[in-house]
Amino acid sequence: MNNTDSREPGFPSCVLITGATGGIGGALAVEYAAAGAKTLILQGRNTERLQELADRCGALGARVVTQALDVRDHDALMAWLADVCESEMPSLVVANAGVNINTGPDGQGEDWQDVLRLLDVNVRAVFATVHGVLPAMRKRGHGQIALVSSLAAWRGLPETPSYSASKAAVKVYGEAMRDALAHEGIKFNVIMPGYVESQMCFDMPGPKPFLWKADKAARVIRRGLQANRARISFPFPLNLGCFLLSVIHPAVSGWILKRMGYGD
Ligand SMILES: NC(=O)c1ccc[n+]([C@@H]2O[C@H](COP(=O)([O-])OP(=O)(O)OC[C@H]3O[C@@H](n4cnc5c(N)ncnc54)[C@H](OP(=O)(O)O)[C@@H]3O)[C@@H](O)[C@H]2O)c1
Repeated sequence: MNNTDSREPGFPSCVLITGATGGIGGALAVEYAAAGAKTLILQGRNTERLQELADRCGALGARVVTQALDVRDHDALMAWLADVCESEMPSLVVANAGVNINTGPDGQGEDWQDVLRLLDVNVRAVFATVHGVLPAMRKRGHGQIALVSSLAAWRGLPETPSYSASKAAVKVYGEAMRDALAHEGIKFNVIMPGYVESQMCFDMPGPKPFLWKADKAARVIRRGLQANRARISFPFPLNLGCFLLSVIHPAVSGWILKRMGYGD
C-alpha cells in the first residue's frame, strides 16, 4: 500500500495523532483532513470530543479511525499501535498527548503523584509510542514520527519544573532518534510550540507572550513536517528568547525570568 499523496510529494495520506481531543491535536487533525489526508487515526480519552472531531474531519473527506485509550497504560498503547500499524500503516505519527502541572498558586510545590502521572504521559508514553510504531516503519523502510516537546524544553520555568524537564527529555530523545534512524528512511521531528490556545495553556500560570491560535500552530507544524525540519519551533521571537536563556548563565536567565513575571 502506498500511503503518500501523489499531489504533494511526501504528503502523508494516513496520519496518526495522539491527544487529538486537545487544542493542538484537534487542530492538527482538521489541518490534515483539510489538506487531503485520506485516513486519520485519532486517539484521546474524551469519546464525545473524539466523535465530534471524527465528524468534522469526515466532512472534510477523511476516513477517520478513533481510539479512546489512556496512554499511561503503556502496554495497551503499544499493543494498539502495533495493531493499527498492521491494518492502516500510518505514514506520519504525531506523539502529541501531554499534560501539565505546576507548583500551585502559593508555590507549595508539585505533588509527587502528579509528577509520576506527568512523566507517564509526557515521557514514558511518548517513548512507548515510538516503540509501538517503529517495528512496522523499520520493516517498511520509511515513516515519519513527530514528537511534541515545548519551548519550555530550552530552559526550565520555575512554575513548571517537571513539565519543562519532561519536554527537554522528549526534545533530546527526538534529536537522537532522528540521527539514529535517518539511514533507515525514518524521519523524526521535534515540535517545540510556544503558547498555543488550549485547555492546558489556559490552566497554566504565568505570562503567555505571543499566544497563538491552535489552527495557526497546526498549519506551521504541518508545513514543517512536510519539509522534514528537525526542529519545528515557534513563534520565532519566543523561540529565540528561550534559546538564548538556555545558553547564558542560569543565574542570569533566572533573574531575567523573574523580571518577566515567572516564578513570582
Ligand atoms: N498549548 C500550549 O501552549 C503548548 C505549548 C507547548 C507544548 N504543548 C504540548 O502540546 C501537546 C498538546 O497539548 P494541548 O495544548 O493541545 O493541550 P490539551 O488541549 O490539554 O490536550 C492534551 C491532549 O492530551 C491528551 N491526554 C492527556 N493525558 C492523556 C492520557 N493519560 N491518555 C490519553 N490522552 C491523554 C488529552 O486527551 P483527553 O482530553 O481526551 O484526555 C488531550 O487530547 C502537549 O504535549 C503539550 O505539552 C502545548
